[in-house]
Amino acid sequence: MAPTEPPLHVVLVCFPGQGHINPFLRLANLLSSHGLRVTFVINLSTARQMKSLSPSSPSAGAAAVHFDFFEDGQDEESIKRVPLDHLLTLLEHAGRKALPQMVQNYAEAGNPVSCFVSNPFIPWVSDVASSLDIPCAVLWIQSCASFTTYYHFHNKLAPFPTAQDPERDVVLPGMPLLKHDEVPSFLHPTTPYPFLATSILQQFAHLGNVFCVLMETFEELEPEVIRHVSTFCKVKPVGPLWLSARASAGPGDLIQADNDCVGWLDGQLPGSVVYISMGSIVAMTAEQRAEMAHGLLGSGMPFLWVARPTMDEGDDPDLGLPEGLEERGKVVRWAPQEEVLGHVAVACFVTHCGWNSTLEAIGAGKPVVAFPQWGDQVTDAKFLEEVFRVGVRMGRGDTWTKLVRREEVERCLREVTVGPRAEEMKENAARWKREAEAAVKPGGSSERNVREFVEEVKKRSV
Ligand code: UDX
Repeated sequence: MAPTEPPLHVVLVCFPGQGHINPFLRLANLLSSHGLRVTFVINLSTARQMKSLSPSSPSAGAAAVHFDFFEDGQDEESIKRVPLDHLLTLLEHAGRKALPQMVQNYAEAGNPVSCFVSNPFIPWVSDVASSLDIPCAVLWIQSCASFTTYYHFHNKLAPFPTAQDPERDVVLPGMPLLKHDEVPSFLHPTTPYPFLATSILQQFAHLGNVFCVLMETFEELEPEVIRHVSTFCKVKPVGPLWLSARASAGPGDLIQADNDCVGWLDGQLPGSVVYISMGSIVAMTAEQRAEMAHGLLGSGMPFLWVARPTMDEGDDPDLGLPEGLEERGKVVRWAPQEEVLGHVAVACFVTHCGWNSTLEAIGAGKPVVAFPQWGDQVTDAKFLEEVFRVGVRMGRGDTWTKLVRREEVERCLREVTVGPRAEEMKENAARWKREAEAAVKPGGSSERNVREFVEEVKKRSV
């Protein structure tokens, strides 16, 4: 009898941020459901924070996905305080050393690696893959619009705002015109985080090393820009991953979710609640929290609010919210967001427009109040308001430093929930939900792209 071939083995190496872990876990589950052996690799100290995933039981979490970890010299607490630029260096140093050994261990155990999948902040994974002669793909976890904007900036293919001309508009193929405060803010001459642009742009210097860019978007959502990007890059939109692999996000939570809030939502009227969440990194200042709280009170709507103190405030649990606020709603540190957005009681989502939250709102069919802070969020906000037409933008310019007042909070909440414009946004949101669901169904655009990717991994591994 001929010896059986080992299954294709895809190793996903993930950057340790919640906005990266969620789509990576979802992709891991999805590939595993196509019969591939999938190993999810992350640094050990972050793995220790991942709820319901214990590094001592490497197959915890999603049943069929394997987990592996590399030592980063940090513990569960210290890793949270490592500044991002140091974190990137630390991961590169530890990962470059560990990955070749892991690859050797897998081969010795009869599971040679067929393909790596890397992630925007860790482009060195594709160097390691090249040096070991293993094909590598990347999962781009932001929109295709952000991808092309970074690409054009990196390759100097279009003029961008400069110190001399900071308010210049940006015109790119397949894209609506971007005003200066709609361009990913790390590319702006005044960004306080220039190293973030450098880190993101690194990916574009490594594009030659990857055979495919998997994208957390879908063809129907960004058709023109996907068509244009396909002229210079092999791109495969496979999203929204959360709709095709719903069960996967749980074990990846770095903060314990307050699951009681779903019970609280069960007791609210359909289409009555505002859900507010600013993702995993942004925390509103005390002053902004107060304005938000009064805006909520003024709107008269019940609310579920994910609020945490800023880094400067430390872990002090007192958020200083106005008295009586919690009689009108619920404040939690972390919510099971997919479940919340899918809940019939939720009317609209006040979001910082991280791309995961954006796609989760689109897939759940909920209108949004777009409250972007930095990076790609400002571009996502433009698309939510003007292209997808499911929301209104709250605050303009540098919202990261500028306070949005209670009157504006209240006005935006009314605009997305009451009147003919709100009805139109609701209909658009419901249409996007149907499109998103269709994309991940058998025969849908994203599902086809995943199957093509699996076939390509097969071809490349013979
Ligand atoms: C980061 C960047 O900030 C963002 O700009 C980029 O587009 C992606 O990476 P983050 O700020 O964490 O992401 O936001 P987002 O992309 O929305 O991801 C947050 C994830 O955490 C989402 O999947 C969301 O469902 C989840 N979440 C958030 C919860 O499960 N519960 C919460 O209470 C809040």
